[in-house]
Amino acid sequence: MKTDKIVSLPLDKFISNSMYNKNSGYYMKKNPFGKKGDFITAPNVSRLFSEMIAIWIVSFWKSIGSPKEFNLIELGAGNAAMMKILIESFKKFPSFFKSCRLVIHEISPTLKNIQKKKLSNSNINWINDLKKIKKIPSIFVANEFFDALAIKQFQKKGGLWFEKFVSLNKEKTFFSEEKINMKNYERKIDFRISKNQNFIEYSELGINYLKQISKIIKARSGGILIIDYGYTEDKMKNTLQALYKHEYSDVLAKIGSSDITHNINFRLFEKIIKKLGGLKHSLTTQKEFLTKMGINERAEIIAKNQNFLKKADIYYRLKRLTDEKQMGKLFKVMLIKNQNNNFNLGF
Ligand SMILES: C[S@@+](CC[C@H](N)C(=O)[O-])C[C@H]1O[C@@H](n2cnc3c(N)ncnc32)[C@H](O)[C@@H]1O
Repeated sequence: MKTDKIVSLPLDKFISNSMYNKNSGYYMKKNPFGKKGDFITAPNVSRLFSEMIAIWIVSFWKSIGSPKEFNLIELGAGNAAMMKILIESFKKFPSFFKSCRLVIHEISPTLKNIQKKKLSNSNINWINDLKKIKKIPSIFVANEFFDALAIKQFQKKGGLWFEKFVSLNKEKTFFSEEKINMKNYERKIDFRISKNQNFIEYSELGINYLKQISKIIKARSGGILIIDYGYTEDKMKNTLQALYKHEYSDVLAKIGSSDITHNINFRLFEKIIKKLGGLKHSLTTQKEFLTKMGINERAEIIAKNQNFLKKADIYYRLKRLTDEKQMGKLFKVMLIKNQNNNFNLGF
């Protein structure tokens, strides 16, 4: 919609509208995964990724005392590639599988339909709100979930803070800014995010999820495994980006048709967890995590007795997941758990 007047939205409102608007949002109308889509995620690169996550989950469940009933909640399950392999793998651990209530938290109706089709033989609860999960120990897993949540950005100039907006008039869509009082924003997230920063980028929704999940973990036991691309430096960076057909594209060019995403600031996650108290975390790279979980050995086993082409394909995909120039280093794995839990497999 273009008008004579200028209409402005804060960056996060613009992103959530582009991505999740009921009629025109990116995730509401298309399946973004794979060759024909805009990006590919680890579970769609190789089943080995999800197998390693499955083994990790079973081991983590043991570390919290093998509860007879617990939730396994996947946040943002995409095309269900991971959940499908998780379930296949869990069947090899019957007492675990019997205790497991499978839950998916998914916002996109299109993807929810794809998930329901792909997982039609399994007993899964889809929930729109984490408040609806049963009050029992809960293990969360989030692969590329947090990067899909809308972000805010702020720039400090001459001692004053300005928030990034997206404006549109009859002719064009463009970035703009408005002077704001940072204290009001910090009060909302209950965190002094501007400390030692000249530029700020964060997802209010992401922080809310972190807080809500931490509360559940503290009250009922459990943990969250987060796998996502991101960085660990103290100074925040501008990581806003759009992807269209596997290439970077202009954020304002293909609104509703390109994926708008950002890199996770894992330092910020660490600081927030510390402030919440009662929790412990571990952080490593995807390469380290998958290697420690035995992905190379598993690749050898499944490559055995395969023909050359199949073998080459298995190792090509493995490299994609673990090579430092590909997903191995940029992608990080973070575990958040109760303070008294010393489980550290994969880290
Ligand atoms: C980048 S995709 C990753 C999908 C999948 N985990 C994978 O690795 O292939 C992000 C997923 O999160 C979902 N999502 C984004 N925001 C959400 C929200 N606020 N609540 C629930 N799901 C959300 C998207 O619809 C999508 O399924």
